Amino acid sequence: MTTNEISVLPQQMQFLASESRECLYSGAFGAGKSRAICLKVAMRASVPNSREGLCRKTVVSLKRSTLKTLLEPDGGLPPVLPEGTYEWKKQDGEIRIKGGGTIMLFGLDNPERVASMNLSGCAVDECVELTNDDWTMLRGRIRMNLPNTRNQLYGACNPSSPQHWLAKRFGLDGESKPAANCEAITTAATDNWFLPADYVADLQTMTGVARKRFVEGLWVGSDGLVYDRWNAAQFVSDDMPTEFDRVIVCVDEGYNNPACMLLLAEKDKRLFVVREWYHRQQLEADMIAEAKRWQEEYPIECFVVDPSAAKLRAAMRHANIDAVPADNSVFAGIQAVSARLANDSAGRPLLTVHPDCNNLLREFGVYEWKKNASGTLKDEPVKMHDHALDSLRYGIVHYDGIRTTPQVREMTVDNVANDDAIWGDEMWTEL
Ligand SMILES: Nc1ncnc2c1ncn2[C@@H]1O[C@H](COP(=O)(O)OP(=O)(O)OP(=O)(O)O)[C@@H](O)[C@H]1O
Ligand SMILES: [Mg+2]
Repeated sequence: MTTNEISVLPQQMQFLASESRECLYSGAFGAGKSRAICLKVAMRASVPNSREGLCRKTVVSLKRSTLKTLLEPDGGLPPVLPEGTYEWKKQDGEIRIKGGGTIMLFGLDNPERVASMNLSGCAVDECVELTNDDWTMLRGRIRMNLPNTRNQLYGACNPSSPQHWLAKRFGLDGESKPAANCEAITTAATDNWFLPADYVADLQTMTGVARKRFVEGLWVGSDGLVYDRWNAAQFVSDDMPTEFDRVIVCVDEGYNNPACMLLLAEKDKRLFVVREWYHRQQLEADMIAEAKRWQEEYPIECFVVDPSAAKLRAAMRHANIDAVPADNSVFAGIQAVSARLANDSAGRPLLTVHPDCNNLLREFGVYEWKKNASGTLKDEPVKMHDHALDSLRYGIVHYDGIRTTPQVREMTVDNVANDDAIWGDEMWTEL
């Protein structure tokens, strides 16, 4: 297979051509990263006897996203691997390229499978989801000798904060030098001229940190993040109990804006976001049908619903779903969520989010306070990137209640640092 037979964007070509031992393709939504990952793995795996990995943090997310780009047509575009050029051994999680090598599919959620691998190279989609330890483990797996092919670990992702280990490793934080043999290629949404105009126009409506990261493709932080204690390494895990003390579902209504349901369960006073349903332009009936499916699977105490969604609540009750209105005190609710972004006295997180809850995870990283003309932060968040977070807030307030805020303050860097004193452990010892 050669890349001449298909269209390739300039940044994708740079990524395909890179021979650095570690290479990162980082950038905006829809910039063509997943396609580039698939093109590169297909190209490298076309070498006889090669053994290339293709992974994501979880094998489920790999199958739902990247594997589709590899094996299925996308609109008018053919799949990256044309049908008939490979054999897919589903049970072994392997794709054998006719006349070439093998692509091994896996998630980092199966460490035993990863630990037994000896690879010529490895592709990682959405590598921002990995821990530094996951990446280090993969670095140790790419050691299979092949004539004329360099061992390479190559990843793609949307940018996160400059404190993220990837930003430091690849010199994208504005301070660090890239580590030895590490190369980053960055790309903006406008670099992909194949994107439909209405998608690009929608992206252009983004503002603040979301615009910088998801449109411009930059690794920026924000001194105005609402959940500045959010830390994916601490609060994201698929290590969840199988039985819970209490289970509720929290619901934010939407049609043109996404509607969101989160399954929020409690075990030993810790909360777990087990599952997310997040969709635009879904009919009320579709949401209710999904709610009923969840009700069959879990002993759900009640559905805590957006207080302004009276019609939805009535329709849910009509369908025998116990729907109660949520408390929508925004500022106080944000404090309740923030208080959960901490560990209990045994060092275990008070809130754990399953890695498949992609939209909730994304919103945590970009939800911002409004700023007034002088640039100081208001006590009011920007009403964007808040659909999953609003649902979560309704649910956490349902479990923990609202504490009256000691004072409503202008948020400055100094008093954000003082938050620990105000909302610190002593006030929340019962959690
Ligand atoms: N070289 C190309 N030729 C034609 N279309 C392309 C090319 N690269 C990407 N596209 C199209 O652009 C769209 C976005 O591509 P892709 O899914 O790879 O982006 P992404 O950067 O992974 O997006 P996300 O940030 O959502 O993960 C897809 O519909 C894809 O088919
Ligand atoms: Mg992608």
